[in-house]
Formats: sequence, structure tokens, C-alpha cells
Amino acid sequence: MHVERTERLWMWAATGMLALFTGAIVATAVGGSAHPPSHTETVNPETLSVTGEFATPGLVSAADGAVTVSMRAEFYVFRPAVVRVPAGIPVTFRITSPDVLHGFQIVGTNVNLTVAPGYVSQATTTFDTPGEYLVVCNEYCGLAHHLMQGTVIVEPGR
Ligand code: CUA
Repeated sequence: MHVERTERLWMWAATGMLALFTGAIVATAVGGSAHPPSHTETVNPETLSVTGEFATPGLVSAADGAVTVSMRAEFYVFRPAVVRVPAGIPVTFRITSPDVLHGFQIVGTNVNLTVAPGYVSQATTTFDTPGEYLVVCNEYCGLAHHLMQGTVIVEPGR
């Protein structure tokens, strides 16, 4: 089959772009620890604010030193709005919503969750650098979406 030289060039260019973009996905997945959620857990959005783990959101330390933070993302706040965690040890964030879809992104880290009512989103990270980290909602959730933010304060290790 005869293929024009310029057409062949374009075919190679398109193939090259596919390889480049696939490579970019693999590079960010490996280098930036970006990966799809690996956790499916459901919760009743109608009762989570009155009973259970998310009725009293906050930080829980286990006997082995592991730290878990339960949170709610709701119209237009994170509860708790300020979270204090230690540096240098794994911290697991568990977060859900009683109303609509929200986001939970800790700026400067690889924690970036979609928070859907009915589901518990979870991510574990270790903060190496103490300091104040901004938390933003990155799913449009209503008129005051742009005001919805929180703070994670990472304190020097114990
Ligand atoms: Cu909550 Cu946007």
C-alpha cells in the first residue's frame, strides 16, 4: 500500500505524541504518587453528622502511634477546620460529606480526594516538613465554594 511521505510523517508524529502522553501519565503516577482511589467504603449521609465516627470528627491516635483524622466536608467548611498532626509519621485522612460533592486537597502534598456523599474517601500521607498547609475544596459545591478551605498544621515530630 502506498502512503504519501507527508502522511507517513504525520502518522509517526501522532504515534510519537501518544507515546509522549502515555509516558507523562506513567511518570506522574510513579514520580508524583498519583493513583486512583483504592478504597471503597460507604456511610449513610443522613446520619453521619449525629452518630458514628464522623459525628465527632477529629484526630485519633492509635496505641501503635498511627494517626487517623476523621473529617466532614460540608457546606462550606471542613470539620474540623484546623487539624494538627505530627510530622514524620503516616497520617490517614478519612473524610465524607453529608450534603453534596466536595473536594479535599492538601496543597503541596499528593493528598487530593473527591468527597462524595455516601462514601468515605481515604488517603495516607507522611508530612516531612512541619508548617501550615492549606486545604481547599476543589469540586464546585455551591455559591460559597471558593470560601471553603481549611488548615493542616504539621508539628515537629515527637
Ligand atoms: Cu465544597 Cu467546593
